Amino acid sequence: MSGMPRRSLGARRQSVSLLGLGCASFWAHPRFPLARARQVLERALELGVDFLDTGASYAGGLAERRLGRLLRELDRDPHELVVATKAGTLVGPEGRLIRDFRPASISEQVTGSLDRLGMQRVALLQLHGPQPDDLSDELLAALEREREAGRVEMLGVNGGEAVIARALECGVFDVVMPFVSVLRPEGRASVRAAAAADVGVVAAEPLGRMLFAPPLLEWLTRPSGLWYLARALAGGRGFLRERRRLAGVLKAPGWTPAQLAFRWVIEQPQVASAVVGSTNPDHLSELARVTELPLPEPVASALDALLHEGGGVS
Ligand SMILES: NC(=O)c1ccc[n+]([C@@H]2O[C@H](COP(=O)([O-])OP(=O)(O)OC[C@H]3O[C@@H](n4cnc5c(N)ncnc54)[C@H](OP(=O)(O)O)[C@@H]3O)[C@@H](O)[C@H]2O)c1
Repeated sequence: MSGMPRRSLGARRQSVSLLGLGCASFWAHPRFPLARARQVLERALELGVDFLDTGASYAGGLAERRLGRLLRELDRDPHELVVATKAGTLVGPEGRLIRDFRPASISEQVTGSLDRLGMQRVALLQLHGPQPDDLSDELLAALEREREAGRVEMLGVNGGEAVIARALECGVFDVVMPFVSVLRPEGRASVRAAAAADVGVVAAEPLGRMLFAPPLLEWLTRPSGLWYLARALAGGRGFLRERRRLAGVLKAPGWTPAQLAFRWVIEQPQVASAVVGSTNPDHLSELARVTELPLPEPVASALDALLHEGGGVS
């Protein structure tokens, strides 16, 4: 029996593991060996993780295929887990990301995801980074039709503060997925607003991609690291400034900076699951160890002061 804590996800009271696994990023990349991806997923399941987050556009569609295939290999019924996928972004023929929130394409997108996952229904379908204006009545009706058809159990929205605020007004969504981490503390406002509306919250990028403590040596010496480094540099050099700002604060005996940052996110009782991406099974075990430990008080106070004053950068 795993000791993974579970929290309730919104008004439907679906319970989910507090640590979620992001089946995206380098885990889904063709250059990350399938056998290693399997070890990561296997460890997550052993730890009691059952919230598995993926998306149609991740790794050009490979993420959903990989997740579906590995669950079959591991003989796990995906319908007994909480598999979440996303619609609204697709990868086009030349590998370019295409945004598509047209109501008419939703049904086709869900069919594509179910085919790639090898599933009959998903627990959660989230719109992937829409703009507030994308949430038209027609789109909401198209999403409701998917729910009525039994292909989707819960509906959600992933994105920034503005679209989450708009989503909460719609009364259609069961779940929202804001970005919330020590680098994006402003995401806490979305967390609180969702909880007040009885809408479930899953936190995206709870480790802020580790930009506050980038393991530069690993990033320079491993294929996954080079990919993480390229992604960090694509976002500008702001992460080096954040590293300096947070390095002195994310320190406590017996804790790693990742554990402290993760714990800070799940310290918010409204976060049902914090969805971490990883290529390393031991990293997941490390995070699972702090799901029931309170954040050390000096770190909590120092983060309160720092993040209250200055906010964060993405
Ligand atoms: N990026 C988006 O736009 C987006 C949008 C919507 C949803 N999401 C969801 O959010 C999930 C997480 O996003 P993400 O992977 O981009 O960012 P993240 O979870 O904040 O950070 C991932 C980074 O943390 C490292 N890490 C994980 N556990 C660690 C530990 N215990 N110690 C040290 N380093 C650790 C990983 O490296 P290792 O591989 O070495 O562990 C990786 O570099 C995605 O998988 C996806 O499901 C993302």
